[in-house]
Amino acid sequence: MHSFHYSNGSLHCEGVSIADLAEEHGTPLYVYSAETFRDRFTRLDTAFSAIDHEVAYAVKANSNLSVLKLLAGLGSGFDIVSGGELYRVIKAGGDPGKCTFAGVGKTRTEIEYALQEGIYSINVESEEEAAFISQVAGELGLTAPIAFRVNPNVDAKTHKYISTGKSENKFGIDFESILDAYERASKLPNLNLKGLQMHIGSQLTSVSPFVEAVEKVAPLAAQLKSDYGIEFFSIGGGIGIIYEEALASGDESWWTDQPEETRPLTPDKYAAAIVPTLETLGLKILLEPGRFIAGNAGILVSRCLYEKKGTTKTFKIVDSGMHQLIRPALYEGHHEIVPVAEPSGAVESVDVVGPICESGDFFCQNRPVASFFPGDLIALMSAGAYGMVMASTYNSHPLPAEILVDGDRAKVVRKRQTFDDLIEAEEV
Ligand code: LLP
Repeated sequence: MHSFHYSNGSLHCEGVSIADLAEEHGTPLYVYSAETFRDRFTRLDTAFSAIDHEVAYAVKANSNLSVLKLLAGLGSGFDIVSGGELYRVIKAGGDPGKCTFAGVGKTRTEIEYALQEGIYSINVESEEEAAFISQVAGELGLTAPIAFRVNPNVDAKTHKYISTGKSENKFGIDFESILDAYERASKLPNLNLKGLQMHIGSQLTSVSPFVEAVEKVAPLAAQLKSDYGIEFFSIGGGIGIIYEEALASGDESWWTDQPEETRPLTPDKYAAAIVPTLETLGLKILLEPGRFIAGNAGILVSRCLYEKKGTTKTFKIVDSGMHQLIRPALYEGHHEIVPVAEPSGAVESVDVVGPICESGDFFCQNRPVASFFPGDLIALMSAGAYGMVMASTYNSHPLPAEILVDGDRAKVVRKRQTFDDLIEAEEV
């Protein structure tokens, strides 16, 4: 499945030319492929078809309303982490009854909002939070459906900033204390102990940490089912994607040629490894993928402004940067950089950098990339997850526009910010 490919000498998203989009809408520009979103959702959903399950897309990865609407239309549930994300899901036509609300720092306002909207479950990160939710639910005359998040103390073997399942991380309740937490919570009023949740980290490229966590926690889920009648077990998100292939296309023939450690986790490989353990539980299994669904579905298009030849390096200065795609600066994230005009074969070792006044503002350093020059368009591949959602207006750059392509049609799903938008909420 190639949603991003060269055709007639120019990069396309499905049937639409990226150069035409850049001409019409300007740069920097995020472009998403509806076909890739559908493909990833469907593949994961199908891989788990043997068991009672629900894919609850992690909204934090890409929360554009049109993306949420597309996924809601496929039957997706949603994993949210703030009142703002719940608001987005509702505005996009999603069902709060298919939403789980995670996160270590929920406020009273957010808890009230989620309960009033009929959230499926609040995933609770501490006993203190459970007591507070019980109190808030009581004040509203409601019962709060909750699940505790267990921290299984399993090493996800991913970047330290996106590893969450070790006891030194702030997330969840220690595996050793979790039964006591349920016991105490069962004595609190206004709570319905509905499930159990875990999430060990993001961008996992090997199946083994998932297997270790599922096998460790499944007996606990079974016990909670028999003791408290819980109905679901959420195994979190975290399935890694390919960032290193030029067009990060999802072409499985390419994957299978790669060494084991760089192969992405296919949905089938993931399901085959954990379904046998999960199916014995007789619980509804929730999956919370974000990156797997959105990552390869988007690119960031930018234009090269200048080429600066230093004594030791060549810098290609482009019109986007860390303020619009922070992953290279924050997680040493790798995004392939390709010219929008099909490359001829010439390659240069360069730093691709943005306009921000920080040395951390780079997309790559000393990387061989297909040559491009001032005036040329480039694409940062696999930027559909944790791209636009983490963008800021640092240095007072307006936020980019977002386009959703579906077949031959392209729709602006978020307008480019203007200078007036930048200062709209401020007063002199
Ligand atoms: N569930 C929970 C409780 C999470 O905390 C996360 C991600 C997910 C699901 C979805 O994980 P995914 O399937 O996308 O790996 N900004 C970072 C990633 C942060 C992930 C935070 N939590 C990055 O760009 O790599």
